[in-house]
Parts: sequence; structure tokens; C-alpha cells
Amino acid sequence: MARLAYGGDYNPEQWPEEVWHEDVALMREAGVTLVSVGIFSWAMVEPEEGAYDFGRLDRIVGLLHGAGIGVDLATPTVAPPAWFYRAHPEALPVSREGVRLAFGSRGAICHDSPAYQEAAARITRALGERYGHHPAVVMWHVHNEYGVPVLECYCENSAAAFRDWLRNRYTTLDALNAAWGTAFWGQAYGDWAEIGPPRLTPTVCNPAQRLDYRRFAGDSALANFRRERDILHTLSPGTPVTTNFMVSPAQCDTLDYWAWGREVDLVTNDHYLVAEQERNHVGLSMAADLTRSVAGGAPWLLLEHSTSGVNWQPRGIAKRPGEMARNSLAHIARGSEGAMFFQWRASRAGAEKFHSAMVPHAGTDSRIWREVVSLGADVAALEEVRGTRTVADVAVVWDWQSWWAQRLEWRPSEDLDARERAEAWYTALFDRRLTADFLPPQTGPAKLAGYPLVVVPALYLTARTAGQHLRAYVENGGTLAVSCFSGIVDEHDTVHPGPHPGALRDVLGLTVEEFQPLRAGERVTLRGSGGPPLVADVWAETVVPRGAEPVWSYADGPAAGGPAVTRHRLGRGTAWYVSTRLGADGLDAVLAAACADAGIAPREEIPRDVEVVRRSGESGSYLFALNHTGADAKVPLETAGTELLAGGRVAGHLEVPAGGVRVVRLDR
Ligand code: GLA
Repeated sequence: MARLAYGGDYNPEQWPEEVWHEDVALMREAGVTLVSVGIFSWAMVEPEEGAYDFGRLDRIVGLLHGAGIGVDLATPTVAPPAWFYRAHPEALPVSREGVRLAFGSRGAICHDSPAYQEAAARITRALGERYGHHPAVVMWHVHNEYGVPVLECYCENSAAAFRDWLRNRYTTLDALNAAWGTAFWGQAYGDWAEIGPPRLTPTVCNPAQRLDYRRFAGDSALANFRRERDILHTLSPGTPVTTNFMVSPAQCDTLDYWAWGREVDLVTNDHYLVAEQERNHVGLSMAADLTRSVAGGAPWLLLEHSTSGVNWQPRGIAKRPGEMARNSLAHIARGSEGAMFFQWRASRAGAEKFHSAMVPHAGTDSRIWREVVSLGADVAALEEVRGTRTVADVAVVWDWQSWWAQRLEWRPSEDLDARERAEAWYTALFDRRLTADFLPPQTGPAKLAGYPLVVVPALYLTARTAGQHLRAYVENGGTLAVSCFSGIVDEHDTVHPGPHPGALRDVLGLTVEEFQPLRAGERVTLRGSGGPPLVADVWAETVVPRGAEPVWSYADGPAAGGPAVTRHRLGRGTAWYVSTRLGADGLDAVLAAACADAGIAPREEIPRDVEVVRRSGESGSYLFALNHTGADAKVPLETAGTELLAGGRVAGHLEVPAGGVRVVRLDR
């Protein structure tokens, strides 16, 4: 990126050409530097099979180039035209229930369809040949949001591809039967041809088969991404290729973004607030931190968010004045190299006409437009942060595969939800004013050692090596905090040998003799040495210390008298275990103790919901302060500096007006 990006998805094919000229003039007024073009333009550029018509796209790209606006040119492979499906109805995906989905929306794709793969490669090649060296094209946007609206297809093409994938993974049927535990319910396979996708079954389907199917489906989509990416790398050398992720667990649960992050030239993300949540800025921060982590800490780009309400949530809550800027600048604070929106101009027709945009239906005499123009100036004022990296205090281990596994049927309690726990622990860290990096579960001890505190909020599926790495981290002086129902099964959803939690027993210094799920609404009380009692719900356990010391114990409930929260000194470090679902106060109490072990000082001088994040690099060290409250706030400054948005020198403390944002370049 030559500049911080500001702009959005631009769909000019929905508008007559006169409007394009107005668009470009308005883009200049707003300081737009980049737009994503052509995401849904397959039918426009290839109206009939093999007959290309680039006229309109040429003019659009040319207009943008003339105005100095960069183009993030899309391959339109998320929306094949009607003629394609007429010729290849088998490319429409089939649901788990056996229903073939129809044309008429978007994303109707079977990733294992040879016809789709060929057609997608053809249109990608045609676009690469035509625009691969166009000076306006600064990035390629492959497809759109792989993984939604459907990832898994259950058709015969997919069944055949799944069998190939399994042969490759297991080599022999004996290995597959062992991995899937097919001795259970007499499911043993004697021939590869007997294996199918985990279609709808009378009762619970083999969980290992389902888990592998999710992995297989992700790999099929990734293979299609790679095919397009490689074509573009050849035809457009040096231009980065991306595909827009939806890294927030609240938005897409079908892809393992740890794997995808390694495949793109620049990680880009789409993020939409869970607008109704009172503190939805915390979910935003979590998504941004997770995206940066998927990028390995490197700069990434927010490719879509909304200027105001969206059409697809139950209630399209409009953003309050200033909220859009706070959202955008929070992403930038957490590593994004700009802020982009869906979409430039609000559509008049189609399914998304009630989605907000940079140019709303109200036109330019509107609050949204004025804020869009003002945000463009803010982004430009932050140009110097480009290339710097967000500084994290602690790490959180997160794994999509574990989440998929935990969410399959017939777990001990349907109330214990991995995503909810990850969000709750993240919120507790946010409320202690700590910035978190996320780490994949296979992270080695050397990388782990870079963090004084590592939190494991939900890792039901834990490979043995992951447990060994966490143990080495603690032995070498780290502080670990693990939440209940982690370390239970291996990568095939098979329980580790011996008592729970098999993969984490050693590091935690305990065994779990029995899970004690609580009744709906039931609460338990935890008492420790000093301090008020803690309240928990959903889950309890019969914990047997084997080296760990109880710090809080169950005062009531099914595990009454037994340890609830434990601390294990191991080597030079400490491992905490929380065997129940603590509320916010309880998590804070445990984190306070774990932070003390880790040598992390409290940051109570920063007011609650005033988000303070640092980006640092060659150009300098920058402190972002975002005030999500309705009251003016003060943030202490260790070093004097220059404020970049309002301007002026600051020292001692920084005043951040209610709802406002300040960014300080700290003196070296
Ligand atoms: C996604 C898609 C966009 C649009 C927005 C609406 O992020 O990529 O095309 O549908 O959602 O919020």
C-alpha cells in the first residue's frame, strides 16, 4: 500500500454512467484512495459464455485512474452468471439435507465442481490479461468472503473429492477407521467407495467425520482461492492478491483463518458490529486483534465495515454521531492500514438497499456524508502510522477447529459455548486495558515466551504437542490461565487417554474426575482467601489437585467443597485453571491474580471504555485513545507528544472528548 486506504466497495454497474462522474468527484471530496471494483460483475464482463465485454469496466477503471484513486480489482467468482448455471446446474451446492440450492442470490457455489473451477479460472485469466498491468490496479480481490453463505456442499462431486482428500490424509482405511472411531455403532468402512459426506443421518452423525468434512470443505475453497491467486501472480506480477476474510467469530465460523492467513499477500477483513450489543466496540477490538494475529502481527486492511446500520441484522441500528469514525480508527489502532466500507453508494434495488453506505440515499446533505468527508481527512492525517505495528500486552490462544468440534452435538452441556467464553475472557482483558494478540494452538514455546500472560479461554480440542508447548512456556517462566473444558480431545475428537484434561493435566497439575454441568439458571458460589465470593453458572467440575493449590473453592453446588480455581507453580512459571463459567467479576478477579504473577501492573488510571492502543515502528510510536463513553476523559501520557487529529502538543495527560479519538505521536 502506498497510502492508507480509504474508500469502499464500488458497484457502478448498478448505476447509469452519468452517476459515475459524480461518484468520482465525490470520492475526491471525501479523500477516497482505494475502491474495490467488480466483485459482482461477471455477468457484465462475460454476458455470454466466452464473449467478453470489457467496455464498461475499462471506462470505470480509467475514470478512477484519472482521479488518482487506486483500484482493488475483483475476480467476480462469487457470483457466476445465469448462463453458467443453465449449462451446469450441477455446480449449484447441495445442502446437508439433500436440497439443491437455486440461482438468484450469490455465493451458490460447489467448490468441488470442475465446471465452476474451469469457469472461475477462465474469467480470472481474462481479467488478469486485460488489467494485470493497468496502473490503477493496486490490489486484486479474489472472490468475496469465502466460507459464506455456504461452504459445505453435499453433492456427488463433493463426495468424490472428499474421498480423495481422505485417501490423502489417512492413506489406509485402517487408519481412517481408527481416526474416526468407527468401531462405535458399527460404522467400519471396508471400501473407500462406502464413504460419503456426513449427510443428514437419523441421529448424531460420526463427529470425526463431520470435523473432517469441515476441514475438507475449507481446503476445497482454499484450493480455488490458490488457483485464482496463482493466475493473477503470473499475469499481474508484484500486485498483491487478497480475499476478504470475516475473521470475527461472530461473523464467520466456517474457515480456519490460521491457514488462510498464510496464503494471501495482504490480510484483509470485513467487520460488522453486533450492533445491538451495548459495548459492541469490544467485539470490534477482538475482531481487529484476531485479524492482525491472522496476519502474523503484520499490517492488514479493513476492507469492509458500515457507515451506519446494516440490512441483515434483526434491527439495523444506526450508528450515533462519531461512532463510524471511532470504529474506523479503532481498526487502524489495531493494525489496519486504512478503513474501507461496504459500500460507496447505497443501492436502489436488490437485497441490500437498506444497508448504509458512504453516499446514503439521503445524498450529500446528510450527517453520514459529512462524517465520511471528515473521516477521510482524519485517515489522511494519520498517514505516518502506515507500516507500524500494534503493540500487544498478552496473548490468547484461539482455534477455529476446536470451536467446530465443541459445537457438534451431544456435548456435556449445550450451555457451554466456546465463542462465548473467548468473548468473555477477551472482554475481561479489554477491561483491564490490555491489548491481546491471538495465537494458533500449535504456537511453539519461543513465540509464547514473548508474552508474560497467555490465556486459553476455550480449547476443547488440544493436540498433545499444543499441551507440551504450553507446559514448556510455563516451565520457562510464563503465566498461563486456562478455562474449563479445554485439553479434552485430540484432532479426531477422540478423548485423550487417562483422566481429563488429557493434553493439559501436567501443566495444570490436576485431573478432572467428573464434569458437573449445572441446571439451566443454576448458580454456584466460589470462596477464596479474602475478597468477595465469586459467582459462576453453567458448568462445574470435580477437580483433583495433583500439584496445583486451590485458590477458590466451590461453596455450594454439585462440586461443593472441591477446588474451583487452582494455581500450579511449575518450573519458573504458574498455570491457573478455572473449572467453571465465571461472570465478569470472577474473570477479573482471576485475571488480577494471574497478572500479578505475570508482573503486569494494573492500569486503573485509564477510564473504563476509553480504549488505549499503541502502534510502533520506524516512523515513531503512536498512542491511540478512543473514548467510547459519553464523558470527557483524561489518559495519562508517559511521554509528551504531538496530537495528529486535533493538532497541538500534549504532555502529562491527554484530553479525549466524549465519543472522540486522539492520536499522539510520542516523542522519542
Ligand atoms: C458482506 C459482503 C458485502 C455486503 C456486506 C453487507 O461483507 O462482502 O458484499 O453484502 O456484507 O454488510
